[in-house]
Amino acid sequence: MRIYFCCPGVKAEPWLAGLRAALPGATVEPWTAGAPQAEHAVVWAPPQQFLNEQAGIKGIFNIGAGVDALLKLRLPQGAVVARIDDGGMAVQMAEYVCHAVIRHFRELDRYERDGAQGDWTYRKPRSRADYPVGIMGLGVLGVRVARAVAQFDFPVHGWSRSPKAVDGVRCYAGASEFEAFLAASRFLVCLLPLTDQTQGIMNRASLSKLQPGGYVINVARGAHLVDEDLLALLDSGHVAGATLDVFRTEPLPAEHPLCRHPKVTVTPHISARTLREQSIAQIAGKILALERGEPIAGVVDRSRGY
Ligand code: NAP
Ligand code: GLV
Repeated sequence: MRIYFCCPGVKAEPWLAGLRAALPGATVEPWTAGAPQAEHAVVWAPPQQFLNEQAGIKGIFNIGAGVDALLKLRLPQGAVVARIDDGGMAVQMAEYVCHAVIRHFRELDRYERDGAQGDWTYRKPRSRADYPVGIMGLGVLGVRVARAVAQFDFPVHGWSRSPKAVDGVRCYAGASEFEAFLAASRFLVCLLPLTDQTQGIMNRASLSKLQPGGYVINVARGAHLVDEDLLALLDSGHVAGATLDVFRTEPLPAEHPLCRHPKVTVTPHISARTLREQSIAQIAGKILALERGEPIAGVVDRSRGY
């Protein structure tokens, strides 16, 4: 069995070594133009040429959770496309979102600024009931985040395409329940895949429906957010602040108005990193399962776009 690693810009050696150790019967090589047909490939933003040449490939394994970049390419018709499902990302997302929620709710930035000026001032404790957290996307990551936030006794609302039942989470589904979901939320967390339906979903109209003093946490993709609309609502005060991990252009240009905005915390797309060892174990397990003709988790539905 031949497996190619085709992830331009990713250091190949540790992945190759890990995949070879996990799949001792396979030939695992970096892809080069004109190389013979392989059975499977481990990819991240591969060139179109790779997909054109590997028309008979059986399995394409994306080393991230999001497949928006991959699905923009022309993929071999018969190939199963799988993404990383969790692989150690869910706990990282839970940490990141809980941190952002608690930091804003407990006014820790203000206390830090006060402390830096030697100012010992108490603020009136806020009530969790006034800070409901809305999570868009109740998939592998969204559910883990929702459960983690609920552990801190915040009211939690979740929104997904199909109806869900998650303990401790008030679940909303579909376009018809989107407004009710927004109206019930003060924090808004985006954990949706980027698709034609979700592109630009955080815009002036939707963000205006959040409870006043809303707080936006985008950990999905930059194109979910209309930057100018967020900036306008930050100026008006309807949105109190934002923590943004993803941007339409990455790295975020230093001159971008979201960069160094006093109400915005920016991180460089690190809310949930691909963990190499866990991802290799997951991908190797899926390759072996596919070879045995067994179903695997995390298969991408190309018609849905995630
Ligand atoms: P997932 O398991 O596929 O979950 C996606 C969720 O979004 C599902 O609940 C789905 O609803 C919902 N959804 C999709 N389209 C929708 C629509 N039009 N309306 C309402 N809900 C919709 O994905 P995941 O593993 O949780 O990952 C989510 C995203 O996080 C990834 O696509 C990626 O872009 C992003 N991500 C970012 C980082 C980072 O470091 N910043 C790291 C990893 C992932 P159904 O349940 O009904 O299908
Ligand atoms: C990271 O953004 C991922 O999609 O895994």
